[in-house]
Amino acid sequence: MNLPCIDLRPLREAKQASLSLETSTLSIQSTVTQIQNALQEIGFFTVINHGIPDSLLQALEQQSRHFFHQDEATKQQIRMENAGLAWRGYFSLGAELTSGRPDQKAGLYFGTELPPEHPEVQAETPMHGANQWPTYDTGEFRDTVLAYMDAMKDLGALLMEAIALGLGLPTHYFSQRFADDPTCLFRVFYYPPHQWEDAADEWGVRQHTDMGFLTLLKQDDCGGLQVKGRQNVWLDVPPNPEALVVNIGDMLELWTWGILKANLHRVKNQAQQGRLSFPFFYDPSWNSTLERIDKSLLSPERLAQAQSNAEDRWDGLELNKLNAQTTYGEFVWNKIKHVFPQLVPPGK
Ligand code: OGA
Ligand code: NI
Repeated sequence: MNLPCIDLRPLREAKQASLSLETSTLSIQSTVTQIQNALQEIGFFTVINHGIPDSLLQALEQQSRHFFHQDEATKQQIRMENAGLAWRGYFSLGAELTSGRPDQKAGLYFGTELPPEHPEVQAETPMHGANQWPTYDTGEFRDTVLAYMDAMKDLGALLMEAIALGLGLPTHYFSQRFADDPTCLFRVFYYPPHQWEDAADEWGVRQHTDMGFLTLLKQDDCGGLQVKGRQNVWLDVPPNPEALVVNIGDMLELWTWGILKANLHRVKNQAQQGRLSFPFFYDPSWNSTLERIDKSLLSPERLAQAQSNAEDRWDGLELNKLNAQTTYGEFVWNKIKHVFPQLVPPGK
């Protein structure tokens, strides 16, 4: 089985013509249904005609490769430790943990660019602040990354409208309830060439689900991303320069009572060259709560089916036992402080 590949042209054309997706044409309906089916069945799909200019994708890849080719001292000038709780900058190979064990990857963390006077920065809210840019950068990399993040934010919003429609909700349901100000995180990961001696421990990223709404991922031509399919078979997500990979995270699974599925995935770079990947996370507002969608707004058949398909989670977390008044920010912080334990100040 391959992941579904979905053409987003009908949705984008409607937006360009300032039409609401609710004024559905057959082609919009078909796209919405394809997305809904993919998210119910496997939680992953790829998209083409996503509207991100090829020149931007290429610039991002080239400038990121340039960064990771710098010597370690240059990269360390913008290490994450400099940014403290803002959680931005470079981390070296093995510094990030999944399920408590180091990943075989290095990376650069970015987020929404916020000035020091922003209230959340003043309040020392985790993951809010300014980005760090390579010391050699004269603005080119900064402009590319910020332009890419803007484009991904628009794409995320468009997909959330399609997802809302597929669930039978008004198109702006998610933006109004959970993401009027989405938490946007962007990372560039570098997975070194396949070279470790201990075959059992070669994971770039061990199996996990993502935390928020949507992950939009560009990958280079190395391959290595795998998604868990039916009957526990791992499916490869082959590289395609024209496509972005889309998957959903725990919050959409939670809020839809399991109708949509946040699926397990993992990465092992088997190539002889370093692999770059570019995950962008389009997530709920930091202060939105974990309260789920009112069941009466969802299809009873789909709810019943989701309940009968429910399985134990990979990390033992019981989503349905989470307190509905917890905020997304609290949920995220409790999870990710285990990812970079060295960045967490005592008592936070
Ligand atoms: C992630 C992830 C996949 C990749 O960052 O959550 O699953 O290909 N990344 O880097
Ligand atoms: Ni992931």
